[in-house]
Amino acid sequence: MSARAEIFEVGPRDGLQNERRMIPAAEKIALVDALSRAGFRRIEVASFVSPKWVPQMADGAEVLAGIERAPGVRYAALTPNLRGYEGARAAGADEVAIFASASEGFSKANLNATIAESLARFDPVVAAARADGMPVRGYVSCVTDCPFDGVVPPADVARVVAALRDFGCYEISLGDTIGRGTPEAVDAMLDAVLEEVPADRLAGHFHDTAGRALGNVDVALARGLRVFDAAVGGLGGCPYAPGAAGNVATEAVLAHLEARGFVTGLDPEAVAKAGRMAQAMRRGDAA
Ligand code: HMG
Ligand code: MG
Repeated sequence: MSARAEIFEVGPRDGLQNERRMIPAAEKIALVDALSRAGFRRIEVASFVSPKWVPQMADGAEVLAGIERAPGVRYAALTPNLRGYEGARAAGADEVAIFASASEGFSKANLNATIAESLARFDPVVAAARADGMPVRGYVSCVTDCPFDGVVPPADVARVVAALRDFGCYEISLGDTIGRGTPEAVDAMLDAVLEEVPADRLAGHFHDTAGRALGNVDVALARGLRVFDAAVGGLGGCPYAPGAAGNVATEAVLAHLEARGFVTGLDPEAVAKAGRMAQAMRRGDAA
């Protein structure tokens, strides 16, 4: 039997959040619908953050209301605080994600809070989610490098991972937010993180600034990780991480995983079609 690996599609959120053109909700809905036909089990479609901070994501409720929900697909949303959680729940998100940084510099830039303050804000979010039976995923940003603080010690990553585990996150995604991580740095980081959380509750989230994302996927595969975040068309970046390029492209991770014998359940044609659509959205000539 072939080994399975999963791509968690983050294009409609991480991929689009940094686009300068205000993309109409209808285009975002069409992209999510195309992704729903490609075989993903989880798609991150929106974030419920301050529209002053990320204007592109202000229409999350409209997007969630407009998509055609495919059976078996979970539609996820990013939530920085209780207000965001309540918005995501009201809009019908199937799961939410809380997100913290392993470095103080990025935490301040992205959430206007220290790491400790950001974790304290998640307390009521996870309490509400628990009461609602809503699955919560966790993200840790800057797992090897921070655009403000430089190299991030693995122990700092492990500490935040442990905090998200203690919050009950069913899976924790490890973000190389600015795509500067080397395979050696990712390996050292995983050494520390795997002391806290087993590989089957971790995901790799690589940005491809330096062209090392697929190499980092290989390091993570060797450590037993089987879930990878990616964005169709390689869109993306974070508005609060200067120099962050796109997420590693879903098309590239899919080809890479399949070449290594993993079964993803994805339809490459449908993924490629969604990728072309995402690229057209970036250019501003989406149908
Ligand atoms: P703040 O300015 O410190 O706090 O922002 P605030 O409470 O004063 O809020 C500012 C304004 O936003 C207020 O409005 C609030 O009401 C409103 P005003 O009173 O000025 O009119 N507000 C909200 N509105 C809608 N939904 C909400 C919400 N919360 C407050 N949920 C805050 C603090 C956390 C809100 C802000 O820093 C924020 O929204 N940050 C999010 C930034 C973001 O989304 N970054 C990108 C996602 S992270 C990422 O991409 C990394 C990842 O991909 C992994 C990786 O690659 O590493 C996940
Ligand atoms: Mg990201």
